[in-house]
Amino acid sequence: VRVLLTGKNGQVGSELARLLAPSCEVTATDRASLDLAHADAIRHAVRESHPDVIVNAAAYNAVDRAESEQDVAFAVNTKAVGVLAEEAKRLDALLVHFSTDYVFDGEKRSPYVETDAPNPLGIYGRSKLEGERAAAASGCDHLVLRTSWVFGAHGASFVRAILRAAREGKALRVVSDQVGLPTSAAALARAVAQLLTAHASGWGFPGGLYHASSSGEAVSRSGYARAILAEAGIDAPIDEVSSDEYAGAARRPNYSVLDSSKLHRTFGIALPDWRAELRAAVRAIH
Ligand SMILES: NC(=O)c1ccc[n+]([C@@H]2O[C@H](COP(=O)([O-])OP(=O)(O)OC[C@H]3O[C@@H](n4cnc5c(N)ncnc54)[C@H](OP(=O)(O)O)[C@@H]3O)[C@@H](O)[C@H]2O)c1
Repeated sequence: VRVLLTGKNGQVGSELARLLAPSCEVTATDRASLDLAHADAIRHAVRESHPDVIVNAAAYNAVDRAESEQDVAFAVNTKAVGVLAEEAKRLDALLVHFSTDYVFDGEKRSPYVETDAPNPLGIYGRSKLEGERAAAASGCDHLVLRTSWVFGAHGASFVRAILRAAREGKALRVVSDQVGLPTSAAALARAVAQLLTAHASGWGFPGGLYHASSSGEAVSRSGYARAILAEAGIDAPIDEVSSDEYAGAARRPNYSVLDSSKLHRTFGIALPDWRAELRAAVRAIH
């Protein structure tokens, strides 16, 4: 199977590059070799590598900065997805794309399912939602995996930020009124590999939109920070603040737990508990 992978240095992309390499012929790209802000570059890269599967692990993920950089956010998170999807359709290839819990407004108090109405609070969430829609509208064979609070051994993440701040002895101010499900980039990559195997094995592949978060108990941002410090054996106080006190440029949902049972029902795939995976990531970083 020929795979074109974007975002090879990101949290999920780096895990995918490593995991898929032994079984697939992977063309792995980063921003320097394929800038998703340029539609022509995308078309060129796809036509040159002629993939059976396109895995788009690149994204504009700067949630606050997106508020003042709308053009770039929409170019990467929406327009580029549309072009990748068009090219996938032309080649009869599968597009695997990732989206976010931030498509929801957080007003619900039980885990979000795929049929819940999205209502993003900021530009990042809007641009990702439009990206999902562009993939679906293209008519290409696609899988859109919505995930949440991604952490991994490689790349920038909340885990890395908390560990760095704690090590530098900085005061840790973390919001306590945002609840979600941390998700392991490595576990998500393993799920993608399983999905690609299912896709390659035959007919009637049920593509579409799936929630794909780690299992385990939902947690507040501050509870998550405490779990990270505990895994690292760091004893540092956490100053719990409200979202209002810690206002970034973008509003975030107060509750964005994803229910991933459709993925399990359809493919028998469930990502393991985030706490076990967090231990491995903290060890790799710390
Ligand atoms: N991180 C989260 O908490 C989270 C939560 C929910 C959903 N997701 C989604 O999950 C997917 C994977 O996220 P992740 O955490 O692995 O992301 P990540 O670590 O931020 O990596 C994203 C990658 O995209 C690349 N990129 C950014 N702009 C680009 C451009 N114009 N052209 C080409 N590449 C570009 C970045 O390259 P540079 O490093 O060179 O900028 C980076 O390597 C994304 O779709 C994301 O939206 C993430």
